[in-house]
Amino acid sequence: MPYSHILFDVSDAGIALITINRPDKLNALSGAVIGELEQAFAEVTRKPEVRAAILTGAGEKAFVAGADIKELEALTAYEIRTLALRGQGIFRAIETCGKPSVAAINGFALGGGLELAMACTVRFASENAKVGQPEVKLGLTPGYGGTQRLPRLIGRGRALELLLAGDPIPAAEAYRIGLVNAVMPQSELLDYSRTWLAKVLANGPVALALVMEAVDTGLSCGLEEGLRFEAAAFGLTAATEDRREGTRAFLEKRRAVFTGK
Ligand code: COA
Repeated sequence: MPYSHILFDVSDAGIALITINRPDKLNALSGAVIGELEQAFAEVTRKPEVRAAILTGAGEKAFVAGADIKELEALTAYEIRTLALRGQGIFRAIETCGKPSVAAINGFALGGGLELAMACTVRFASENAKVGQPEVKLGLTPGYGGTQRLPRLIGRGRALELLLAGDPIPAAEAYRIGLVNAVMPQSELLDYSRTWLAKVLANGPVALALVMEAVDTGLSCGLEEGLRFEAAAFGLTAATEDRREGTRAFLEKRRAVFTGK
């Protein structure tokens, strides 16, 4: 499927590099960009040869500078609500696609940009990155999950501080409060993301998918229910060929080779 607003490239290691490609508009999320992100992650989800994804922005200035403010201007209240529900659904599909995703934040990640990054499994940022939820400065609330994922990631108090003041924070501060997992020079961002994913992908694919599902499930239910899900996942992985291979490899003092079965 051809793309016009994103670049989609899969490496031999099975890592899809998805680049939002509107650098002249700081990669703002137009409806068309969001639609192509939906397609791209449908490919990631569907294709067995794609095992992980890196999401980044074209150019050196921005990951994504938010929803497209010009497009929002032309919409009615009801249309904006519909847009939010659609975007939320797509971001949720990214979050729950069963394969690890890295947001490689190469510059501004504002509003919908930070919301998109928060839907990814982890966030790595370049030193020049600035992240925040500035919607209140436009008289708006976040609409793609910011009020929900930000407190889950960094806690209620810090989330409200960012959401209410609306001021972006630099990468180093985002790292300090746990909003991004690591910070590095921009030139190292993609290599670092690939290296981290390669380490992850050496592990059992079924176990990886179930760990992500268990964490996600646990964050939206109580402890008892979360623990039951964990026990079921543990039992399920115990029945896989990968578990047998993993244990055998340990006993034979060699590296395990997993097949995802
Ligand atoms: N939607 C649509 N266009 C956007 C955009 C957005 N969210 N963010 C930036 N752009 C466009 C600008 O309109 C400008 O286009 P133009 O050259 O046709 O005028 C271009 O991208 C470059 O942006 P500019 O503002 O000139 O760059 P800057 O370096 O001076 O400022 C930012 C960078 C990120 C501080 C500034 O662009 C900004 O505040 N953007 C909006 C962030 C925001 O509020 N996002 C939440 C939206 S709900």
